[in-house]
Amino acid sequence: MFNIDEIRNQFPMLKNNKDLIYFDNSSTTFKPYSVIKAVEDYYLNYSVNYGRGEYDLSFLLDAKIDAARKSVADFINANENEIVFTSNTTVGLNTIAFGYGGKFLQKDDIILITGAEHASNVLPWIKIAERTGAKIRYIPLTDTGEISLEGLKKMLAENVKIVSVAQITNVLGYIAPLQEIVEAAHKAGAIVIIDGAQSAGHIAVDVKKINCDFFVFSGHKMCGPTGVGVLYGKYELLQKTDAYTYGGGSNVNYTKAFEIFLKDPPYKFESGTVMIEAILGLREAICFIKNIGLDEIYEHIKKLHRYAIRQLSTIEHIHLYAPDATYGIIAFNIKNVFADDAAKYFNSHKLCIRSGQHCSRLLHERLNCISSLRASLYFYNTLEEVDRFIEICKSATKKNCVEFIFNNLTRTVHDDF
Ligand code: ALA
Repeated sequence: MFNIDEIRNQFPMLKNNKDLIYFDNSSTTFKPYSVIKAVEDYYLNYSVNYGRGEYDLSFLLDAKIDAARKSVADFINANENEIVFTSNTTVGLNTIAFGYGGKFLQKDDIILITGAEHASNVLPWIKIAERTGAKIRYIPLTDTGEISLEGLKKMLAENVKIVSVAQITNVLGYIAPLQEIVEAAHKAGAIVIIDGAQSAGHIAVDVKKINCDFFVFSGHKMCGPTGVGVLYGKYELLQKTDAYTYGGGSNVNYTKAFEIFLKDPPYKFESGTVMIEAILGLREAICFIKNIGLDEIYEHIKKLHRYAIRQLSTIEHIHLYAPDATYGIIAFNIKNVFADDAAKYFNSHKLCIRSGQHCSRLLHERLNCISSLRASLYFYNTLEEVDRFIEICKSATKKNCVEFIFNNLTRTVHDDF
């Protein structure tokens, strides 16, 4: 049962900041007590290293990390040995770009991405293209900014080796038709990498059903701690992929003659001490989300999103970029007001939204604006908060925003401390 009051009671950030409206969930989400407790529990009760000790506390921790790996695997319908713990989505994408792309891409091979990707799904490919001589091409977007399946199909050819796209884009909030993308790409002989930073923990993810080759996400955007991410890869691909980092924990042996013998996946990718407490927290986050139910979460977010869009569309000074997007992200601008200034105005009403380019520079070129505002919803947000958001949007006319900025020119955030 989806009980919003009970849910909100589980979040100290919501309980301790009663008048705050937090609509910056695509950036990071709040954490429930159970996640915080799991992190604290580690430091209080079994604060030892993982995979290295022959004593009881170490065995206990090893079992907990194994259980966390199993929870993650079940969560996205993967096998345990296909789950690599990284520190975030960015590291996951870099691992694939350098460890797989760097190894297998050749001159004039093609990497397909879109112009709506987050920088983490663009920059590693630029570096790999420089290194290998491969080329990056952009899959066309439709007028609304969604992936054009037809456009993709036209671009697929023998030399396309990698297709790398977000499941939910972080600015416009469109959900990509992954099964169709994967089917078409596989037919052409390309592998498909999915950036799941905005989708894991927000909509149900089944990597077997999608049949993608790699899928990466971060814990902190789904109620987990910062510092932990997940890289899923089909096992045979993980075997073929080179590690991105080397050091203790990931090798079986190395010799004076400069030979390295790595462990099997997933361990060959986990050099150095992993982010133990964050992994334990992520397990609790998964448990928390599963208890609410991903279908219920998605329905709630969709309801809030539709409700907000319907009203925002009637406000003359608001420009909406993707009113028909299906996920809970609202990209907009106040007409003729610089997004950072508008965000400061919203902040003065205790509303947290993100402004700027949201690490998606290429998309803003296409949207024909320097920057935008982004309100991103999660399951603990309420209709009452949306109502308040709409009221603030109504009051955020150019005149009011400019007046506010002018009157607060010398104020800095430090005044509050
Ligand atoms: N990737 C995060 C965002 O989209 C930080 O805001």
